[in-house]
Amino acid sequence: MVLEGGEGSGKSTQVAALAARLRADGRDVVETLEPGGTSLGRELRALLLHHDGPLDARAELLLLLADRAQHVHEVVEPALARGADVVSDRYTPSTLAYQGVARDLGVDEVARSSRWAAGGLEPDLVIVLDVAPETAVARGASGRDRFERAGVEFDARVRAAYRDLAREHGWPLVDASGSPDEVAAEVWRHVAPLVR
Ligand code: TYD
Repeated sequence: MVLEGGEGSGKSTQVAALAARLRADGRDVVETLEPGGTSLGRELRALLLHHDGPLDARAELLLLLADRAQHVHEVVEPALARGADVVSDRYTPSTLAYQGVARDLGVDEVARSSRWAAGGLEPDLVIVLDVAPETAVARGASGRDRFERAGVEFDARVRAAYRDLAREHGWPLVDASGSPDEVAAEVWRHVAPLVR
């Protein structure tokens, strides 16, 4: 399962809450993230977020896909093979929204390259946490890294991209403006049918 959303949507809190809920049901859960779910990924993440020279959009995409390839190979596939649930903070939908739409690389082309990088592995469920950029800023998500410095217009493009992609792919869109418990309950409503 994958949780998605823009900056300040509360994804990491919800990933932790969902993993805890699944563990409470006695399930084996691997909680992970992109970029940065492996040791290679942590180095790539530092470059992606904090490299202070120019970074072309295609170069950015390739760094993200290198992170994805390593993450799928080293973390996700072994976990699935032993029967664990994998809860990932971001996956291919992030690349479609950020690089495909917001960075203008094209959703179809990005989808093809991401599928290749991931060895064709698709999530069982993608949930998009939707929050207005103003709420995200109020939650303190601004200015710390390359993406957070990209500006409100970029954030608005990312949000619109997620909403369009969610509609197109049938991904549930959860209103993330509520309290963490309210959002967690709504996330669980979508996950529960898959794990019963
Ligand atoms: P993340 O750690 O989830 O940041 P935040 O909690 O601030 O949302 O992700 C780091 C950044 O990486 C985020 O700004 C979005 C970006 N990103 C992409 O642009 N494309 C991708 O494919 C992924 C996985 C992340």
